[in-house]
Amino acid sequence: MNEPNNKIPGLATRQSAIRLLDAVCRRGETLDQAMPAATGKLSHPSDKALAHNIAANVLRWMTALDAMIDSATRNRLADDAKPRMALRIALAQVLILDTPQHAAISTALPLVHGGPRRLVHGVFSTVMRGVESGALKLPEYPEIPGETLDRWTNNWGEDVAIAANEAWAKPAPLDLSFQSDDVGSLDGVKLAPKHLRMLPALPVTGLAGFDEGQFWVQDLAASIPARLFGEGEGRTIYDLCAAPGGKTMQLASAGWKVVSVDNNAKRMERFQDNLKRTNLQAEEVIADLMQWEPVEPADAVLLDAPCSATGIYRRHPDVLHCIGSRQIADRVEVQRALLDRTAPWVKPGGILVYAVCSLEPEEGEEQIEAFLERHDQFAIDPVTADELPEHILPTDTGCVRTLPTTLAEQGHVDGFFIARLVRKI
Ligand SMILES: C[S@@+](CC[C@H](N)C(=O)[O-])C[C@H]1O[C@@H](n2cnc3c(N)ncnc32)[C@H](O)[C@@H]1O
Repeated sequence: MNEPNNKIPGLATRQSAIRLLDAVCRRGETLDQAMPAATGKLSHPSDKALAHNIAANVLRWMTALDAMIDSATRNRLADDAKPRMALRIALAQVLILDTPQHAAISTALPLVHGGPRRLVHGVFSTVMRGVESGALKLPEYPEIPGETLDRWTNNWGEDVAIAANEAWAKPAPLDLSFQSDDVGSLDGVKLAPKHLRMLPALPVTGLAGFDEGQFWVQDLAASIPARLFGEGEGRTIYDLCAAPGGKTMQLASAGWKVVSVDNNAKRMERFQDNLKRTNLQAEEVIADLMQWEPVEPADAVLLDAPCSATGIYRRHPDVLHCIGSRQIADRVEVQRALLDRTAPWVKPGGILVYAVCSLEPEEGEEQIEAFLERHDQFAIDPVTADELPEHILPTDTGCVRTLPTTLAEQGHVDGFFIARLVRKI
C-alpha cells in the first residue's frame, strides 16, 4: 500500500486498521490472522490494540455506518472501495470511540491518497451535520450482517436473532476458569464450580492470582466440554485440537493424564505459555490428526473441532463477515473426517465429547446425528442439568446447545454445541 504523510500523528494506526479491514472483507481472513502483517509496522502495543479496536468496531457496526454513508452519496460507493473503508474508519472513531472529528478526518483523508479526498471529506461532513441535527444516529444495537441474521432467524427463530444483535452491542464479560474452587480474593459472579464472571471485564494480567496461574480466561460455555468428563483420577484423555490449551488446563487440574494434540505450532506456543504459568502438566504433540495416531485407545477423548466459529462472534466480529454457507459446508467436511478418524481412539465403555463454538446446526446437531448413523457402536450419554452451569439446561436429546439467548441477563455466553457420546462396544 502507498503510504503518504507518515508524519501525521496516528496515521500509521489507521493505515493498519484499513489493512485489517481489507484482509477480512476482501481476503476472508480473520482479524487474528491478519494482525501480524497489518500491524507489523506499529512498534507500540497500544497502537496495535487501537488498530484492532477500530477495525473490530467497523466490522460490528458496518451495516449502520454504511447506511449513513449511503444517505450522503448520490452514487453508491462499492462495498470494498477505499473511500468507503476510509469513511467507515472515520465514522466509527467519532460515533463509537469518541475520537474528535478533526482527528478522525485528518487521519482518514490520507487513506485515499491519490483518490477522491474531496468526496470523502464531503460525505463525512454531511454525515456529521446529520448527526448533529439529530437526523442521523446509530441504532441502539449493531446489526448482525444480513446473510447470517437470515440464517440464524431461520434456524433458531426471531428471539435468538434479536438477542444476538443485543449481545453484539455489549462488551463480553470476563469469564475465568480456576484450577480449584478457591477463587481467592476476587469478586465476581460464580455460575459454576471453578468459575467466576467479572462484569465489566478487567485487564486479566492485573488480577490477583494471575501470575501464580490460579486461573485462565475461558468463556463459560467453552468450559462445559471438559466439565462433562468429571474427575480424571489419573486416567488418560486425548485432548484433540488442544491449542491454546483452555480445556487441557481444565482436564489436567481435574486429575486427568492429558495428551494434547494440535497441528498449529504458533497456537501451541500459547499452549506452552499457559501450561507454564499454571504449572499444569500435559503431554504435548504438534501433529495433524489426519496423520498422527495414538498407541492405544483411551478412556476419554475430547474433540474440540475446528469450526466456523460463528458462536464467538461477540469477541470476533470478523467471523460474521468471513463465514457463509460455503465456508460452513467446508468445516462440516473437516469435522466429519476428524470424527471418523478419532472415534476408534475411544476404548469400549469410554467417552467421546464433541464440541464446536458454532451457531450452525450443520456443524453441531446434524453432524452428531449423521455420526451416530455411521457409528452404531456409539450412543448419546445424556448430560444432566446438575453437570451444567446455572441457567443452562441440556437439550431434549441430552446434548448442550448455547444460544445468544442463553444467560442473556447475566451477560450472555458463546454459542456452542456439545455432545457426550459413549462407546458401547
Ligand atoms: C476450537 S480450536 C481449539 C481450542 C482448544 N481446545 C482450547 O480449549 O483452548 C480448534 C483447534 O483445532 C486445531 N486443528 C485444526 N485442524 C487440525 C488437525 N487436522 N489436526 C490437529 N489440530 C487441528 C487448530 O489448530 C485449533 O487450534
